[in-house]
Amino acid sequence: MRKGEKWVLGLIGAVALVALAKGLWQSGMKKETDPGIPFYSTASPDLARAGWDLYRRLECKSCHTLWTVRNMFESVPAPALDGIGSLREEAWFYNYFSAPDPQAILPSRLKPQYRMPSYAHLSERERRTLAAYMASLKVQDWYLEQTRQAEYEKLTGKPYRQ
Ligand code: HEC
Repeated sequence: MRKGEKWVLGLIGAVALVALAKGLWQSGMKKETDPGIPFYSTASPDLARAGWDLYRRLECKSCHTLWTVRNMFESVPAPALDGIGSLREEAWFYNYFSAPDPQAILPSRLKPQYRMPSYAHLSERERRTLAAYMASLKVQDWYLEQTRQAEYEKLTGKPYRQ
């Protein structure tokens, strides 16, 4: 290697080091200002387990997103369920899951095969568990408005106006 080449390599190395240090410094800074993930659940460990179990078993994720778990091939524009418990009451969820015709409670803009199915055939215990689990899915206040907006736009297909 010639002297000139070494010098160039050294320079490249120095530039890379400075970039790395800057990146590290910025990611450190970001931690202080990044408010983090706004979604959380108030469920007890038992409810969280039972609720998530039903959610998986009943294939809710074939249409919905929750905790970023979604169907890779998802094409259904169903609302995300993260934070939904800050928008609706537990009794509402229970009635919704128990309704033979959920669209009588929440109208749909979708083709029948994409609409929310009725879960009236589940046992009462299962419907109560699902409702309690949904009600436990909360969003921090600073992200409530964005959550409401996203839900509104999914449900209506229209832009949200405050
Ligand atoms: C076939 C797709 C599909 C499946 C499966 C499905 N949903 Fe839905 N769900 C929807 C759609 C679409 C909506 C919006 C209303 C509509 O268009 O019928 C909805 C609405 C909801 C809502 C009301 C959301 C809001 O914005 O208030 C809740 C809660 C919900 N679903 C929970 C569940 C749970 C829990 C399961 C599993 C037990 C489930 N869904 C399974 C498609 C689905």
